[in-house]
Amino acid sequence: MADILPAEAARWERLERRARLTCLCFGYGEIRTPLVEPTELFTRSIGEDTDIVEKEMFTFTDAGDKSLTLRPEGTAGVVRAYLERNIGARRQLAKLFYLGPMFRREKPQAGRRRQFHQFGTEALGSSNPALDAETIDLMVSYVRGLGLENCRLAVNSVGCRKCRPAYIETLTRYLKERESDFCADCRKRIKRNPLRVLDCKVPDCGQLVESAPRIADTLCPGCADDFEAVKAYLRSISLEFTVSPLLVRGLDYYTGTVFELYSPDLGAQDALGAGGRYDNLVEDLGGEPTGAVGFSIGMERVLMLLEGKEIPEVEKNERKPSIFLTGLGDEAFKMNFILLARLRRKGYPAGIDYLGRSLKAQMRQANRQNADIVFIRGGDEIDKGGVQLKYMSTGGEKFVADKDIMEILENEPPPVKDSE
Ligand code: HAM
Repeated sequence: MADILPAEAARWERLERRARLTCLCFGYGEIRTPLVEPTELFTRSIGEDTDIVEKEMFTFTDAGDKSLTLRPEGTAGVVRAYLERNIGARRQLAKLFYLGPMFRREKPQAGRRRQFHQFGTEALGSSNPALDAETIDLMVSYVRGLGLENCRLAVNSVGCRKCRPAYIETLTRYLKERESDFCADCRKRIKRNPLRVLDCKVPDCGQLVESAPRIADTLCPGCADDFEAVKAYLRSISLEFTVSPLLVRGLDYYTGTVFELYSPDLGAQDALGAGGRYDNLVEDLGGEPTGAVGFSIGMERVLMLLEGKEIPEVEKNERKPSIFLTGLGDEAFKMNFILLARLRRKGYPAGIDYLGRSLKAQMRQANRQNADIVFIRGGDEIDKGGVQLKYMSTGGEKFVADKDIMEILENEPPPVKDSE
């Protein structure tokens, strides 16, 4: 665990400010959850047979004989708060971000500490694959905003409760045939949680699983479609990725899409950030079935990459008008999604409906979010390749072609409402 002294703290502050600005553009609000939670929260969500729960948690019994644990990650606490505080009431999509320390009793080395800091987001309330792409876009935008370009994005799908059991069976058969060649930990994992063998860090085990059966080959139609959709959305907003068929992540709560962002400049601990979908976790912790997806980035690793470099300062008075994109039907959504990413990359806070709601409900959402501008894309606008642009303070409307939108926004901004 490290002390952060004043000169360094100033660098941390810049990283945090950039995280807040990125989250503003993507419509995520901050949540701060306790550093200590009941141990059971982590065993139930991360999973009993994971490295984190088995070996790495700082767990203690308090004076009331209750087992407590310093949070090893942020997702479980956010889901607990989501349920306890009824954040998902009225079927709203909850978009939350957090910044703060996490604790894992790992063997310390470069890029690995026992107290480390994460910046992460969680979006709860939708299974729309576009939200997976949004999450990845946010993570990558943050890193690029800091001037870090040399990163590689890997994605995979780990399937769902319908299709994973068949895969586990095939995988177990493969692993058992080679059981004696695996490390002692993996031999235990083969019995208790075979998926974890795939992310064993022992080089020999890594080599043995190279030719293991691939989960992608046994996905059910729903998971396969969702994975295709995520990849298509990523391509549509020009995010490069590779599919890593053995990427399964070290936490049990994942379903469907998983991803990691690597930097070759980090050395052995080369994962800069990671995340995925966890559509069962809210239900497993006592709530309604709720689609959810998130990521987190290790801030110490970001700082390692920025060593010796100036950290770009967030410019003051950068507040740009906020925009909400509405539309009717699939095609409008896809066109809007591309525009959404373009707007955010230019620093506009922008939002879209992920819940397939009516145009009227989308307009209500735009109002609730206090949007300065609404884009409306109906059938006519799709045909003409543009949007109806509406200034919310005056009610003024006009058609703008997609290619002209950035110019119009620069040259004809709306009267900006007072920001608090
Ligand atoms: P994770 O992969 O365990 O995922 O951690 C995310 C990132 O935290 C890693 O990529 C790494 O940069 C950083 N990290 C992890 N352990 C350490 C350590 N000991 N020292 C320094 N940095 C570390 C999660 O934590 C999930 N909660 C991500 C997520 C959010 N999935 C869905 N929502």
